[in-house]
Amino acid sequence: MQADSLWTVSEDQFEPKRQNHAETVFTTGNGYLSTRGAMEEGYPGERRTTFISGVFDDIPISLTELANAPDWLELHLLLSGEVFRLDQGEILGFQRVLDLRTGLLRRSVRWRSPMGRTTRLEFERFSSLADPHLNILRVRVTPEDYAGTLEVHAGLNGDVDNEGFKHWEWLGQAAHNGSLWLHTRTRKTHIELGQAARLTLSGPAPIQGDGWDVHNHPTLVRRTALQPGQTAYVEKVVAVYTSRDVPQPLNAARAGLDPAVLPSPAWDHLWEPHAKAWEKEWAACDVTIEGDDEAQIAVRFSLYQLLIAAPRRDERVSIGAKTLSGYGYRGHAFWDTEIFMLPFFTYTRPEIARNLLSYRYHNLDGARKKARNNGFKGAQFPWESASTGEEVTPTWVPYFADPTKMVRIWTGDIEIHISAMICFALCQYWTATGDDEFMLQRGAEVFFEVARFWASRAEWNKSAERYEFRDVIGPDENHDHVDNNAFTNAFARWTLRTARRLLDWVEQRDPALAADYRARLQLDEAELTLWQKVAEKIYFAYDPSTGLVEQFEGYFQRRDIDLAAMEPRTESVQGLLGIEGANLVQVIKQPDVLMLAYLLPELFDERSLHANYDYYTARTDHTYGSSLGPSIQAIMACRLGRQEDAYEHFIRAARADLRDVRGNAGDGIHGASAGGVWQAVVFGFGGLRVNEKGWTVQPHLPAHWKRLTYRFKFRGQEQVIDLPGKGPFSSEEA
Ligand code: BGC
Repeated sequence: MQADSLWTVSEDQFEPKRQNHAETVFTTGNGYLSTRGAMEEGYPGERRTTFISGVFDDIPISLTELANAPDWLELHLLLSGEVFRLDQGEILGFQRVLDLRTGLLRRSVRWRSPMGRTTRLEFERFSSLADPHLNILRVRVTPEDYAGTLEVHAGLNGDVDNEGFKHWEWLGQAAHNGSLWLHTRTRKTHIELGQAARLTLSGPAPIQGDGWDVHNHPTLVRRTALQPGQTAYVEKVVAVYTSRDVPQPLNAARAGLDPAVLPSPAWDHLWEPHAKAWEKEWAACDVTIEGDDEAQIAVRFSLYQLLIAAPRRDERVSIGAKTLSGYGYRGHAFWDTEIFMLPFFTYTRPEIARNLLSYRYHNLDGARKKARNNGFKGAQFPWESASTGEEVTPTWVPYFADPTKMVRIWTGDIEIHISAMICFALCQYWTATGDDEFMLQRGAEVFFEVARFWASRAEWNKSAERYEFRDVIGPDENHDHVDNNAFTNAFARWTLRTARRLLDWVEQRDPALAADYRARLQLDEAELTLWQKVAEKIYFAYDPSTGLVEQFEGYFQRRDIDLAAMEPRTESVQGLLGIEGANLVQVIKQPDVLMLAYLLPELFDERSLHANYDYYTARTDHTYGSSLGPSIQAIMACRLGRQEDAYEHFIRAARADLRDVRGNAGDGIHGASAGGVWQAVVFGFGGLRVNEKGWTVQPHLPAHWKRLTYRFKFRGQEQVIDLPGKGPFSSEEA
């Protein structure tokens, strides 16, 4: 099968120095688990990782992280007694190709061993999208210029760690009679993991084999002989279950490989349903761009990365800021999910969006606990979230510029807009899908509890006669401990008002349910009146004479520095000036007021939009600030008709991981940027706007794009927008 270049990402050289970046880019997975693109035989410095969604474990001191699962990938080849390794001998040919259309990772190698023997090797692997518990890899091995032996070692390695910390304890294993399994458990959270593997070797000559029952690393060995030009086929198929999925994960894994259900070799058997499942995914969400191959590939790459991180069958997990593809942020979920990634799912795969939103609903108790511990009412969602909804932001971390120093992280304490973001995402989902049932049964409760949090967190300023939110961090994290961040205040007001309207709606739709909410949550009239009072009197710093919104109180008094004069630079402004230094100047890490204008456009008129765009764009660290920024900046530029600006910001987002713009792609995919790329194409260039009444499209294509096609679902109906092309560019009602 010839891969289409607009559907692939590839590399033509083995580059140990950038292997961590390549591992992130070549991640394969199916939403249940993801495996970084490490090579089967393993290299020094690699970050060889498989993460299973929701499998968190604790580490000292009160931190929790996704646990790197025992390695299913491992495969060693001995060619006439010489170990196959690319860092020895000579590489005569090398190519790795990730087919985004099917999630297939292929590596083609021609290798001359230190003894001068040349072999051709074709590796392929995928994790099944049709049966998320099954993973498979195969290798075709062809000696070119020698007759010799091939020996294959395929293990399940439980001796893995998260950059030093070991999460797994051994429960049992076997490696005999062709059976290979490993049973382990996370140390603290006690999640059991069952893995079973089957190794097949076939070729023209007889096959021999045995097993090595090394503790915590059971391994199967197979041997055969090959003549020049003959090919041997090696296949390793691995089943993975955890006690989050079934009560007896080991039994389930072993049963999954029973030859009665999975013939040997298994590749073709697994491939067909897997490829079909991918075809269905892409049919629902593909975006095509003519006239810009780089953008085309980058968009598909972004969607691929989101799709392999998305929970299809589990509503108790979210998607971490680094998806399931790296150690960055320890697998924790941020507002990145609701505001940046979720719209893609809401509009193309609403069932997945529903799972992601349900995760927050199931974690309400954790959020209630956080509010209570901080002396507030209702639900305060954590800035960083893992499995329980309790706050998991580390309070101290090593300072990136000098790891011998520790830095206090305040986001978990005071970056409070996250709770409103969850409500916003709920509304967006509701508007797009019309899923009243979900809003009635789950969304409403989240909303009421968050509104109650805002009302109790607000402080009355007697002299100014207004409600305020003091000591917060807004989206722009260059400035912490600020008062009255406009974004936070506006979203507190929005949540309070929307929650009140929502309660009226529930009362109308289902009076018994409304009565139940009022009783169970003890929502009395006094509290509802407070919501209204707070909403009416929340301070919002808008200056009618200039149209500017002050990002927070006193922002305009911070020192204005000339960003252009700092060029050329390869570091963020915060990196150059230090945390304290950056706090004193106006440079922002990511859009804050503009983010507000994007999400709540009704707050800004045309003049104000232009004024804020000009003011804040000049003060934003676009290149090295947050990866969340460029896509939003691109959308706002589109809305203001600034096409060239828009493309410049968009392509910056599109390159974030493919080109490793910030030098940290090795830590995992920037999930928010990937989601932002979709939004920039659809809501920015593609001009889609949606509200309760319907949708409209006002395109702003970059001059060199010949055609853009995207699809989305509105109230269950699939819509395909083909630009430029004939309308109608709106739903009937809009
Ligand atoms: C950004 C946050 C973001 C977090 C995780 C930070 O650098 O400022 O907005 O939520 O990264 O991606």
